[in-house]
Amino acid sequence: MSTDLILALDVPTREEAAPILRQLRGSLKWVKIGLQMFTAYGPDYVRAVAGEGFDVFLDLKLHDIPNTVAKAVGALASLPIGMLTLHASGGREMMAAAQKAAAQTKPGLLLLGVTVLTSTNRAGLVETGVAATPEAQVSRLARLANEAGLRGLVCSPLEVPVLRREIPTQIQLVTPGIRSSADAGTDDQKRTMTPAQAARAGSNYIVVGRPILKAPDPAAAARAIMAELASVSASVSASASTSACPALAPDCSAPAPDCSALAPDCPAPVCPAPVCPAPFAPLPSAPPPFEN
Ligand code: C5P
Repeated sequence: MSTDLILALDVPTREEAAPILRQLRGSLKWVKIGLQMFTAYGPDYVRAVAGEGFDVFLDLKLHDIPNTVAKAVGALASLPIGMLTLHASGGREMMAAAQKAAAQTKPGLLLLGVTVLTSTNRAGLVETGVAATPEAQVSRLARLANEAGLRGLVCSPLEVPVLRREIPTQIQLVTPGIRSSADAGTDDQKRTMTPAQAARAGSNYIVVGRPILKAPDPAAAARAIMAELASVSASVSASASTSACPALAPDCSAPAPDCSALAPDCPAPVCPAPVCPAPFAPLPSAPPPFEN
């Protein structure tokens, strides 16, 4: 499984965003337009960013009565967006109404249920009358969102391993709260992981704003994160194929110099040709790393 970067375009003006987008065109796929830019520039800006070739994630975190949210989803479906958020705490009926509206107007739209904001910790939940831990509350809302038919969730990377066990693996997990180890705890984000940790945990997408936007060279910072994600994905696939290989070689007796040709997925250190199994069974395909 690979993990994609989503750039949270949280800047005050489109002029500030323009050079960052220009430099990342062709290498970055997803851009998140949130409340700041949508409030300032509206639907036209969504069309403009999509027109530059980016896939747009519209992060409006809808939360209202079911009819109002469903109508809003129907209206937003005319925009060139691939993902849209709503608060899972709006409840089953609200999420189901939203999903139905999306299915009727834009079936490819991925509605994401926001579970517990990554800026909220246990104390923050208690203040709002929720006695559960963030992990338990995320779990509860994730199961509710799944039952309501949503195909994606927003959570902190810390909860990904639990959700991977509890909900169907095809549910897309999008995780903000991404910080380098050095930056952890320096702003409002409280439940954080590094890009590599989030990727290893099984996030499908990570959302990163300020660590990129406040860097001296935002495009370079974004590219560095994409490289970090790519290297995790490469090492996960290598270890998946390595773990499939030892089964081939335990009790073979004859030297076989062409072992690697027969087991092409077997990396050299595991199958260097000292001995080869006979008969050769085809390599089992490596399971997706985070499958239940
Ligand atoms: O700057 P930073 O990397 O913290 O940006 C994270 C982005 O992800 C922000 O745009 C924020 O609105 C969004 N987000 C979040 N936590 C959620 C859902 C969305 O931080 N649970």
